[in-house]
Amino acid sequence: IPVEPFDYVVFGGTGDLAERKLLPALYHRQLDGQFTEPTRIIGASRSALTHEEYRKFADEALKEHLKKGEYDEAEVKKFCARLYYVSVDARSDAGWDKLKELLDDGKDRVRAFYLAVAPGIFGDISEKIRDNKLITKTTRIVVEKPIGRDLASALELNNTIGKVFREEQIFRIDHYLGKETVQNLMALRFANALYEPLWNSAHIDHVQFTVSEAVGLESRAGYYDKAGALRDMVQNHILQLVCLVAMEVPPSMNAEAVRDEKLKVLRALKRIDSSNVEKLTVRGQYKAGASAGGPVKGYLEELEGGVSNTETFVAIKAEINNWRWAGVPFYIRTGKRMAERMSEIVITFKPIPHSIFDEAAGRISQNQLVIRLQPNEGVKQSLMIKDPGPGGMRLRNVSLDMSFAEAFNARNADAYERLLLDVIRSNQTLFMRRDEVEAAWQWVDPILKAWEATGQNVQGYTAGTWGPSQAIALIERDGRTWHES
Ligand code: BG6
Repeated sequence: IPVEPFDYVVFGGTGDLAERKLLPALYHRQLDGQFTEPTRIIGASRSALTHEEYRKFADEALKEHLKKGEYDEAEVKKFCARLYYVSVDARSDAGWDKLKELLDDGKDRVRAFYLAVAPGIFGDISEKIRDNKLITKTTRIVVEKPIGRDLASALELNNTIGKVFREEQIFRIDHYLGKETVQNLMALRFANALYEPLWNSAHIDHVQFTVSEAVGLESRAGYYDKAGALRDMVQNHILQLVCLVAMEVPPSMNAEAVRDEKLKVLRALKRIDSSNVEKLTVRGQYKAGASAGGPVKGYLEELEGGVSNTETFVAIKAEINNWRWAGVPFYIRTGKRMAERMSEIVITFKPIPHSIFDEAAGRISQNQLVIRLQPNEGVKQSLMIKDPGPGGMRLRNVSLDMSFAEAFNARNADAYERLLLDVIRSNQTLFMRRDEVEAAWQWVDPILKAWEATGQNVQGYTAGTWGPSQAIALIERDGRTWHES
């Protein structure tokens, strides 16, 4: 269904995110016929570019980042014709009158400001937007992580933006919420009668979250070395996944209903601090090794002789202190330069209470539900089945395995495509509310402080592996193992 006409102003319009994600995502939405005319995309940044030069920039970005067969000359021409560019400076008045003039041409359209810039200037840009009277009744603002580097800075950032925009105008993007399988978590849980009655500590043994990446620093040393895996991946993406798995059934898909439930999960996370941090967390940092068939440098070498105790890997045994989940561990692991790029959530059910089969039948595995986020998005349910044939009762662990690509023969849309247009639709369900971001930091902060207080160092792991051996020990101590996909 097409959305209302809009003007999307992308601050950081010539930056990496715009080039790799935002422009290609918007192009795809046009391709699918979701735009209503007149709709414009306005790049804004400090560089001095003409509209024509920006169109050329976009054209090149599309050529480079669209998949084979997606670049259609006529469509790209149409897309470029809706692009404009304004040179503005967040910290001075330069250019803002030009932006106002351009936007005044579309006063009745939905207006969205996307801040694809460093969080340090979120406040300046918000104030300029207000002072230049660019806020209309249908104005929204979109912000990207990192929303703070701890609770205090997140509060400050939220306050700064909150001085200019009302909460319902603020869209905090966590691109994991736009991933198809993540949304499917809600479909799986709430559109099937099968799982929800079992979705609790009486029937679930434990849950695993693995988000492994093959890439290393990717020229982001400046940001990453100050962040580390806990801030970069866990505080946002992985905690959002934990929320969707663990939350109570919301009364509807309404944004407030869903976010209220997610918030309760975050608030119920068992505190990790100096008293238990060494038992419940493992920090890792990759050393030289091999990835994608070739040798790769270690983290410190990538930092070019730097000294750093920043974790590029983290494993955590988390727990949720509420009736539904008491005693069910939520094991989390994520890292750079791991064996492969793979994200999955594994729900392991409890063993059967009693076996009627004799030893010859073999071992009875616990049922597992595997939700694969990437690559090859899909859902897999393992079951015990009788081995076919007259040889007696022999049991085997097999899977009902559904790959979305095969089942639907559909293009795998990028997470941003859905989210960018949800902003125009004013649908906040897949965006983080202020109190969620703050509650997530409230859990993460004591871990960061405890690492500092206890001097918990990073453990080395060879690039191209599944992380330090301590992460394997973290789960094996409990008599469980990480799921191998
Ligand atoms: C970003 C992190 O938020 O997510 C990156 O800052 C990480 O470090 C990326 O690589 C992972 O996203 P995806 O969609 O590739 O899993």
